[in-house]
Amino acid sequence: MEDKIKDILQQMTLEEKAALCTGATPWKTTAIERLGVPAIIMSDGPHGVRRVADPDTLMSESLPATCFPTASALAASWNVEVPRRLGEALGEECLALGVDIILGPGNNMKRTPLCGRNFEYFSEDPFLGGEMAAALIDGVQSKGIGTSLKHYAANNQEYQRFRIDAQVDERALREIYLAGFEKAVKQAKPWTVMCAYNRVNGAFASEHKPLLVDILKAAWGYEGFVVSDWGAVHDRVAALAGGLDLEMPGPRPARVQSVIDAVHDGSLDEAILDAAVERLLRVIFKAAETPKDREDFDVAGHHALAREIAAETIVLLKNKDNLLPLRGIAKLAVIGRSAREAYIQGGGSSHINPTRVDVPLDELQKLAGDIELHYAEGYRMEAGFDQTLIDEAVVLAQEADLALLYVALPGYKESEGYDRPDLDLTEQQVALIKAVAAVQPKSVVILNNGSAVAMADWIDGVGAVLEAWMMGQAGGGAIADVLFGKVNPSGKLAETFPVRLQDTPAYLNFPGENGVVRYGEGLFIGYRFYDMRDLTVQFPFGFGLSYTTFAFSNLKLSAISLTDKEVFRVSVDVTNTGKVSGQEVVQVYVHDQASRLVRPPKELKGFAKVALEPGETKTATIDLDARAFAYYNPVYGQWVVESGAFDILVGRSSADILAQETVHMESTQVLPCVLDRESTVGEWLEDPRGAAVLQPLMQQMQAQMTAGMDTETGGIGMEIMSFLKDMPLLSILELFGVPLPLPAAQFVDGLVAQLHQEH
Ligand code: BGC
Repeated sequence: MEDKIKDILQQMTLEEKAALCTGATPWKTTAIERLGVPAIIMSDGPHGVRRVADPDTLMSESLPATCFPTASALAASWNVEVPRRLGEALGEECLALGVDIILGPGNNMKRTPLCGRNFEYFSEDPFLGGEMAAALIDGVQSKGIGTSLKHYAANNQEYQRFRIDAQVDERALREIYLAGFEKAVKQAKPWTVMCAYNRVNGAFASEHKPLLVDILKAAWGYEGFVVSDWGAVHDRVAALAGGLDLEMPGPRPARVQSVIDAVHDGSLDEAILDAAVERLLRVIFKAAETPKDREDFDVAGHHALAREIAAETIVLLKNKDNLLPLRGIAKLAVIGRSAREAYIQGGGSSHINPTRVDVPLDELQKLAGDIELHYAEGYRMEAGFDQTLIDEAVVLAQEADLALLYVALPGYKESEGYDRPDLDLTEQQVALIKAVAAVQPKSVVILNNGSAVAMADWIDGVGAVLEAWMMGQAGGGAIADVLFGKVNPSGKLAETFPVRLQDTPAYLNFPGENGVVRYGEGLFIGYRFYDMRDLTVQFPFGFGLSYTTFAFSNLKLSAISLTDKEVFRVSVDVTNTGKVSGQEVVQVYVHDQASRLVRPPKELKGFAKVALEPGETKTATIDLDARAFAYYNPVYGQWVVESGAFDILVGRSSADILAQETVHMESTQVLPCVLDRESTVGEWLEDPRGAAVLQPLMQQMQAQMTAGMDTETGGIGMEIMSFLKDMPLLSILELFGVPLPLPAAQFVDGLVAQLHQEH
């Protein structure tokens, strides 16, 4: 293959090479027939195949495909087999629908629940997001179909997404916003990565050499091609130089010409164009190896899979007095428009034309046996307030043994393309829930939405709450399965549900102004923020109830001390102590007891889902490598593992740690010496090499400063060492005129040079 690619590249004219790097149509690459280079077709995902009937036009009807639950639901499964199986099904549908590359998964972090597109993203945590994305990519690619991991990077809002400049500090970028991409790229090798629309620290993501070339391609060893988000390219030549291989959509003859001109006038090195062409050819020929000639896909089988997956993603948030699963009921009030009109997905490029849609009310009826069901609309999906709908629902709820309230956040409050104005359900929905709960304490709220909603207003009044996300075309059946206990809920939140918007991490820095959004909260998004601030949340990250109970015991670490070269194993026994079978998620967080840089109180570094029959015990094992202990230090430009004590916290949510042990890390890393002329005394002393040089000088400095003074206080009422340690060495030497063989600046430069030479 490599020889073939080199050979074709050599035969290609400049015009052909430039043309290959821009789409021929909105969804197709450019074919070069004389050299046998076929066109490939890309189609949106990520939770279904949106294969437009005519790939030569940007917008057209799409062919029927299975609409699976969206990413925020998938992540709530905390089970990598879920995205993997979904990926396999997507791959099979691509084989039948003639799609070479599916544009997904999306793995942007949920910086704020207000991002309108959160439903297409997995989590507020890069480890969980990365695992989910990698598994989905693996699933699709196992069928010979490519993926496009998107939107790289820092596309965390819809507001002004085509131009906003996300200003993120280097550490937050590496540890939060890039880490999930890094994991997915390294673990699953997506065939393509899609750049984001926005700017990152000043430069458009589509022409961001540090992001696309230095980090993605060079540091992470990414071998696929980088495709632009549709319309994200501003300057084709700058984008090529910045690492963007394919511009979409096409055709864009002027862009192609600009590349040709730039090579002619020497402003673009042809080698850069050649490298992009090679990356493209590699993927195109790989895609061509898999014929897309399936007549059809297993429509019924995929619908059943969509139901199974949806059921595994539903999170039971509240279940007062074990109100669920439903039993001993003769008359059920089913309230809410979304019981009739299933809310299965969000608006925008991921919008699938489903093969069929389960109506939640009908699915309920199928499992209800002798139970009488009575329906009231309760609210409309469009804006407006209608008290009569509420009154009707109240009457129904009063007469029933229990009320089910199906509440879906309407599309005008949550979609690709615009952000949410608030975290609330609509005014009508809140009033409805309160009115129904006032007459019927046995009320169960079933939510459909893509990201956290505020519940403080109404949750105390209701008996139970199920979070059913944007649940895909078979979600109506999945809800019925969970309500009737055919499936024991095992979903856990992949994002924190805050009490109120004002508590959320980005509240003071969202959505930005004058074209800039500053990520002022740095590393602290999601539970990292709520933990650090010790804030009360509605439901913490990792939380979810079950119809059974579990006990954790026998936490074991494979070692109590280790080095950063070793993989380390955490194991814990989980027992189902209840009466029905169920699944529990073991979550492993790491807490660094002491660190040179500020660190979140705990970070998720591993998880495992365990299925257990009543009374059964299984051992869950989770391996942690050096990265689980590391943080990114921008001063060294690398991930750093410090020696010291780390707590291994094992729990069933970020706020419910059931067992913990401490491990001692002995780091073997030798960090470069970064002391310079402006380094403080504290920094000199922290570096053993600096400390060795500085110690003799310290005595001299102290003596000079305190000559003739009260040495306890330095004569100025201060603790001298505390005062000195935050001052640059040079400033002290100059300020106090410490006698030196050379002028102070030269002297310090000499010490620095000596240390840098030695190390
Ligand atoms: C979206 C991408 C999508 C592309 C093609 C863009 O507007 O941001 O996620 O893949 O359109 O539809």
